[in-house]
Amino acid sequence: LLKRFDPIPDSYSPQYVEAAWYPWWEKQGFFKPEYGNSRGIFMMCIPPPNVTGSLHLGHALTNAIQDCLTRWHRMRGETTLWNPGCDHAGIATQVVVEKKLMRERGMSRHDLGRENFIQEVWKWKNEKGDRIYHQLKKLGSSLDWDRACFTMDPKLSYAVQEAFIRMHDEGVIYRSKRLVNWSCTLNSAISDIEVDKKELTGRTLLPVPGYKEKVEFGVLVSFSYKIDGSDEEVIVATTRIETMLGDTAVAVHPDDPRYQHLKGKMVLHPFCDRKMPIVFDNFVDMSFGTGAVKITPAHDHNDYEVGERHNLAFINILDENGLGHISCGDTKSQLRFEARKAVLQALKERGQFKEIKDNPMVVPVCSRSKDIVEPLLKPQWYVNCTDMGKQAADAVREGRLKIIPDHHLKTWFNWMDNIRDWCISRQLWWGHRIPAYFITINDPSDVDGHYWVSGRSAEEAKEKAAKRFNVSADKITLRQDEDVLDTWFSSGIFPFSIFGWPNENQDLNVFYPGTLLETGHDILFFWVARMVMMGLKLTGKLPFKEVYLHAVVRDAHGRKMSKSLGNVIDPLDVITGISLEGLHAQLMDSNLDPLEVEKAKQGQKSDYPNGIPECGTDALRFALCAYTSQGRDINLDVNRILGYRHFCNKLWNAVKFMKCTEWILSRLSAAVGLCNAGFRAYDFPGITTAIYNFWLYELCDVYLESVKPVFSKAEEDNTSQRQAQVCRQTLYTCLEVGLRLLSPLMPFVTEELYQRLPRRQPQCDPPSICVTPYPDVEEVDCEMEFVMTVVKTIRSLRADYNLTKTRADCKLTHKLIYFTSYWL
Ligand SMILES: *[C@@H]1O[C@H](CO)[C@@H](O)[C@H](O)[C@H]1NC(C)=O
Ligand SMILES: *[C@@H]1O[C@H](CO)[C@@H](O)[C@H](O)[C@H]1NC(C)=O
Repeated sequence: LLKRFDPIPDSYSPQYVEAAWYPWWEKQGFFKPEYGNSRGIFMMCIPPPNVTGSLHLGHALTNAIQDCLTRWHRMRGETTLWNPGCDHAGIATQVVVEKKLMRERGMSRHDLGRENFIQEVWKWKNEKGDRIYHQLKKLGSSLDWDRACFTMDPKLSYAVQEAFIRMHDEGVIYRSKRLVNWSCTLNSAISDIEVDKKELTGRTLLPVPGYKEKVEFGVLVSFSYKIDGSDEEVIVATTRIETMLGDTAVAVHPDDPRYQHLKGKMVLHPFCDRKMPIVFDNFVDMSFGTGAVKITPAHDHNDYEVGERHNLAFINILDENGLGHISCGDTKSQLRFEARKAVLQALKERGQFKEIKDNPMVVPVCSRSKDIVEPLLKPQWYVNCTDMGKQAADAVREGRLKIIPDHHLKTWFNWMDNIRDWCISRQLWWGHRIPAYFITINDPSDVDGHYWVSGRSAEEAKEKAAKRFNVSADKITLRQDEDVLDTWFSSGIFPFSIFGWPNENQDLNVFYPGTLLETGHDILFFWVARMVMMGLKLTGKLPFKEVYLHAVVRDAHGRKMSKSLGNVIDPLDVITGISLEGLHAQLMDSNLDPLEVEKAKQGQKSDYPNGIPECGTDALRFALCAYTSQGRDINLDVNRILGYRHFCNKLWNAVKFMKCTEWILSRLSAAVGLCNAGFRAYDFPGITTAIYNFWLYELCDVYLESVKPVFSKAEEDNTSQRQAQVCRQTLYTCLEVGLRLLSPLMPFVTEELYQRLPRRQPQCDPPSICVTPYPDVEEVDCEMEFVMTVVKTIRSLRADYNLTKTRADCKLTHKLIYFTSYWL
């Protein structure tokens, strides 16, 4: 790499600059911790992006910050590792491959079977799963790629099994039947983070997968229950009227004067032979509606707890596909939102319907399938977070773990101090299959017969079970749980699974615990908290010492990045630039439905009427880091990124200018050397060639051309003015020395021009070019050095006399210099 001696291209081009350095950095091993010396250790793992994902500007921010921190530590001489990786993203990946399968072969995953389907996913991963890595490289991320880890790699899968088995054996992981977020479309429980909260201001019709017509939400329906053995009724209200099929009580506040006389009474279900108690519970808000609340323990989180407290029946009215009406009277099974209409109609017919009114509310929507989430009662695996959460909170309270900026502390404590157990099972095929086996002991003395044992294999589980229950292994039959683990379970152990935990090895000793975790504040709990809890639980150590949380990127209008708004921008498009048509074309390739595509196109048209200009990686990274001053949310404006591209132009011109000046003086010095050598050797062609080349090709073609813009810009700003002064001096030297060089061969024209050239020191310059000294190399080489000495001397003088801010005239007596110090 001898760029030092190459001419510098005329203008800054990000494409040119960013074309070749990355592969060279990588090849030289600069990003490996083994490179260079060691003054401490800096270790950070990447928050593993989803294998299905592609980075948008939000991720680019994460990477800009992480990479500049990593590079800073590396440049301080620390052993530096930024470990790349990628997440198998259970639901997201399964959905992508299922859609592809349906589109291309008209098959569902059930048609294919579990094993073949998983093979399809791997195939997809191997073909498409490296887009993110490509983007990360384009962003200049100084990751050690040889250490890239995928959460489903054997090494990481082994760690996941180990983690589950240890925690299950200890009782921290347990199985329990309770309400989960159920997506009827996915047929799976989903995590809290996969539930979007859609806010409605009142009555709204929403599309729901599987329904031809839109479904009504955002209304509160009031109806009455008759009191057993009386003409009285009690009015309750609900936003999900179909759930009344699963009601098993009515609750009122213990202090509510309106209902004291109903103690010990029952209400009657209108559609079936069910008597339901009236329970008195503090959780009821007396001021809301009638102060009486219907209780559906099997379909609502609050009601579930009421059900537990008052020992109510838990009646499930939905199956996994969202078919309702399972256990109530003569109504047949139908889709839950069809049931909504049917129930309303039936209540009207019985005269028990009271009113319906607009009700601002939040509807839980599955972010993956867009289905309306149903709370459903299901046995699932849970992590008991009580002790782990307390330890994680203590670590921060005692200052062992630092969270920056500290306005996130409040949320951290709030969450950790009220932590709920974590549902870790998912009814998917893609992911780490839960290493737990349901065992049945073929032994007449065994009365219970239902146990779960965890193990790396069926054999291991069998042996474990035999020992635990003291029976011989051949009496045991077992079957592995079908479910897989929540993706966050494997991400939670990522800081040590990447180093081969639980196996002792050098990497684990050197690089764990890490130094820092950097991520968006939106996943503080889902990811950071889980890494902290699982790190403490499984390794006894905090996985890192500091957590830095950056803001979340929104568009220039402050809106969240969303495909359907057309504001999800691929960082590569900002780097290389893209036309409006190009942006439109990307929408066609996405999975958006045609209506949303149209809306997104409009969004793109209004935000980027001329597309996005080429900004380059450096400008993008710089802009993103500059933006972090905005606080919790960043409203990103592409024009500001372009501003930093202009900043790169400035850098470019400054260096180009310096290079040009140095270069022409060095060419002049070479020409002078050749001429003198030529005269001594009687080599006249040597002299004419040297002079001709210098004047024509070097001075006129290159130097004059390259400084022209400096002169034309000199009007605009002071930097250019200063540069123009330096150019003028350099040019003067070249012309004056060049004429003298040529004078013995072309005496007339050189005399004519010499006489017209302004003089640096009119008094002492010779009267004719004939009697000037013939240039020698030393003279020219001294020139730049001398100029620099004068510059430095004047600067320090100005500093000494405290004149740095004022313009000060300064006269020098030397044959070369007579300008004022104004530009210094
Ligand atoms: C979770 O752990 C806490 C503390 O060890 C314990 O008191 C609690 O009973 C456990 N919860 C469950 C559901 O096992
Ligand atoms: C240039 O410098 C002069 C003198 O210091 C100052 O008055 C003027 O405002 C500057 N102009 C710009 C564009 O910075």
